[in-house]
Amino acid sequence: RGKRAFVAGVADDNGYGWAIAKALAAAGAEILVGTWVPALNIFETSLRRGKFDESRRLPNGSLMEIIKVYPLDAVYDTPEDVPDDVRTNKRYAGASNWTVKEVAESVKNDFGSIDILVHSLANGPEVTKPLLETSRKGYLAAISASSYSFVSLLKHFLPIMNPGGASISLTYIASERTIPGYGGGMSSAKAALESDTMVLAFEAGRKHKIRVNTISAGPLGSRAAKAIGFIEKMIEYSYANAPLQKELSADEVGNTAAFLVSPLASAVTGSVVYVDNGLNTMGLAT
Ligand code: NAI
Repeated sequence: RGKRAFVAGVADDNGYGWAIAKALAAAGAEILVGTWVPALNIFETSLRRGKFDESRRLPNGSLMEIIKVYPLDAVYDTPEDVPDDVRTNKRYAGASNWTVKEVAESVKNDFGSIDILVHSLANGPEVTKPLLETSRKGYLAAISASSYSFVSLLKHFLPIMNPGGASISLTYIASERTIPGYGGGMSSAKAALESDTMVLAFEAGRKHKIRVNTISAGPLGSRAAKAIGFIEKMIEYSYANAPLQKELSADEVGNTAAFLVSPLASAVTGSVVYVDNGLNTMGLAT
């Protein structure tokens, strides 16, 4: 039997989640995705109307099949956690069972188990504000959506993950070096995500034989990155200063993710793996 993957954080064909799904599909995995509730309608409509067909194409010529799209809001663990204004919001009203616990239950009911869990989501409502100007609410929201969301997903999916399986998330170097402009507590959220990768690797490894790693990715002009506002500058900076002077493609991150969740990486866990053309190794801009 092929492996089954749940990829959380896919809402278009531009981001790292989509590229990871494709790399896993190309390696023979069955793909389920979790899509943020407010983005669900447009994603499903675009998928159905063939808008993504070009980018669904795999190296062997076939099209990536997304077996099922689950609505997900990883900021909420159970229905009891959802405030009334969100529950009754018209962007949420059409969907159901989208808290983390419910999504894991739905996947269990539909498919029984998974082998691979991918976390490719982040949100920081105050990302454009410097840390000194970030509110407590904005900071905690960044941590909730970008760090605890992984703890929660892993916690709820672990019981249905087959031993030998693996999970992966996406982080950014702003956790360990100052990147002016990556604000709102997003740098803090990535630091938490990286530290949690280590601790969760220990806990999930001992308890369920599941590996946990994170990819520190270079800049990509995704929808989320464009919201931050300086992504073009970061891409240019990387091109000018990295050891490998080439554009970073989402597929390169997808391929590394496919390696890390495969048996080829069976002794790799708790690691931060850089997929950034080597930019992280530079000490001086050139
Ligand atoms: P993206 O826009 O493709 O992915 C982010 C996804 O998160 C979107 O689909 C969005 O709908 C979803 N999302 C936001 N809040 C959510 C919630 N509460 N529940 C469920 N889903 C939610 O953008 P990108 O850049 O591919 O982001 C994927 C990951 O890669 C993120 O963790 C990001 O921080 C990370 N990353 C991105 C870099 C870049 O330059 N684009 C660099 C390094 C890391």
